[in-house]
Amino acid sequence: MQVSVRVPAKINLALRVGPLRDDGFHELTTVFHGVSLYDEVTVSDEVGSDQPSDQPPDHLSRRFTDEGGDGPLLTIGGPHGSGLAADASNLAIRAIDALAKAAGRTPRARLHIHKGIPVSAGLAGGSADAAGTLLACNQLWGLDWPVARLLPIAQKLGSDVPFALVGGTAVGVGRGEQLDPVPVGRDLHWVVAAADEGLSTPDVYRQLDALRAAREMESADPAVDASLLTALERGDVRTIGGLLANDLQEAALELRPVLADTLRAGNAAGALGGIVSGSGPTCVFLVESAAHARDVAAALVAAGACASAEPVTGPAVPSF
Ligand code: C5P
Repeated sequence: MQVSVRVPAKINLALRVGPLRDDGFHELTTVFHGVSLYDEVTVSDEVGSDQPSDQPPDHLSRRFTDEGGDGPLLTIGGPHGSGLAADASNLAIRAIDALAKAAGRTPRARLHIHKGIPVSAGLAGGSADAAGTLLACNQLWGLDWPVARLLPIAQKLGSDVPFALVGGTAVGVGRGEQLDPVPVGRDLHWVVAAADEGLSTPDVYRQLDALRAAREMESADPAVDASLLTALERGDVRTIGGLLANDLQEAALELRPVLADTLRAGNAAGALGGIVSGSGPTCVFLVESAAHARDVAAALVAAGACASAEPVTGPAVPSF
């Protein structure tokens, strides 16, 4: 038996970062939004089978373990698959282990991840892989647990994994793991402008702490502008564009100053709003329509303002 799940990337329409907590995480309030850029996780119980034939060999990662016979086998392919660790540090391996433990069984499965989401990009691609693994193994192993039962497992894996399980658009509070769905009045069109080299999320948070410390700034309790939620419900794209906000943006720009050029180029190309996505370095631009997205993407590439620019839509949800 084989099960495939496509899980979307996330962007943050607003990311408000509060104080650093004792557990090393920051209190935050965010609006997550899934967009149509996907990783696909395929799991099967044919542990001995060969790699899928559609994957070019240079994009295949090593097997994690096949000595014991009871561990998961992981391969990674796709446009962003090269160079990614297919070992125990991979969040998908941690997800399969966590689900197996909760279900009281061995984590035996063959796992392949087709990476369409750039890595270390502020798009929660690793979280998408973990969520996809939970959703796919839930079915492969015949558990058929409701998502509500997977959420506590997802929470322990990472701050963005619970949202990746459900997708759509949602306010996240706490570490971002307590979710409340947000209605959105129409499909939104975006351009995702990817960078060549990733940024480390902990580094960006640390940079924000340093900036705030240098300014002797108290971090206020993080709150999302209620008018953003109203504009989303109405599908009022101009207002949404003006209200996009990211407290991590300044820190990401300090670590990667060239992103200021990316943001300028997107705005000059007529985007309704543009921000760094999460901890970056990906920048996202809200646009009017699919045609507008193609124009803005072409302008960004022509200006040399990013490594690649892709039109996407949101909200997007995981699908089998
Ligand atoms: O939860 P996740 O593994 O995605 O977090 C990665 C890192 O990002 C954390 O180790 C922490 O440094 C930072 N982080 C944070 N506050 C959050 C979420 C992430 O400081 N709410």
